Amino acid sequence: MKRLSQLLSAMAILALLPSFAPAYEVPKDLVIKRPAKNQPQASWVGPVNFPHGFHAVHNPCKACHHEESDRNLGQFLPCTQCHNKPGADDPTGFYRAFHNSKTVSCLGCHKQKRLTGQGTPPLSCTNGCHKLKKH
Ligand code: HEC
Ligand code: HEC
Ligand code: HEC
Repeated sequence: MKRLSQLLSAMAILALLPSFAPAYEVPKDLVIKRPAKNQPQASWVGPVNFPHGFHAVHNPCKACHHEESDRNLGQFLPCTQCHNKPGADDPTGFYRAFHNSKTVSCLGCHKQKRLTGQGTPPLSCTNGCHKLKKH
């Protein structure tokens, strides 16, 4: 009798679990916004349009979402939740997350892909990501 009730409660818990549909959406186009109190490295730097869906089709999620593994899908945090500190030298700051030489960063991966002949991702600041503001 005890075993039966244990089995029944296990089944009740299973029934309460959400279905296997992912609990996240893969955003198509994103604008990367500067965290508050974080000054740009140059005056011409504005918000960056990021073709996220395009990148997510061609790379594994954790190529960029390095804090998330394929085993805990559903917890895709914005980079800026952690990388929000000002200055160009802090490894956990905003700037380095997108510019350092590691392949999780935008510029780091773009350089690496060019070196290995995998496409022609943009490297130039103002032609690629930081489109100059029209005055
Ligand atoms: C080329 C790098 C890259 C790849 C690959 C990538 N992402 Fe992202 N993702 C980002 C960046 C950058 C952001 C914006 C972060 C920010 O604004 O701080 C983001 C944002 C997100 C967000 C929104 C988070 C929020 O709450 O604002 C979700 C959800 C997400 N990604 C899911 C995924 C999933 C799922 C995959 C794989 C199918 C994936 N991403 C692949 C770089 C990437
Ligand atoms: C939960 C917090 C967290 C999230 C979310 C996160 N990071 Fe990080 N990241 C860190 C920490 C802590 C470090 C430094 C230690 C390490 O390398 O693990 C780091 C290091 C890095 C580095 C290396 C920096 C250097 O100069 O050594 C890059 C590049 C980077 N992250 C990019 C990203 C990108 C891009 C995203 C979003 C797609 C992201 N991170 C999301 C916490 C986070
Ligand atoms: C893991 C590798 C990787 C990371 C990280 C990455 N990219 Fe890319 N990116 C690519 C590749 C590969 C291409 C396309 C190259 C090709 O097809 O010639 C590309 C293309 C682009 C393009 C041009 C798209 C087009 O339509 O031509 C932009 C803009 C861009 N990336 C911005 C970013 C930004 C902003 C980030 C960081 C938030 C980022 N990328 C992070 C690999 C990466």
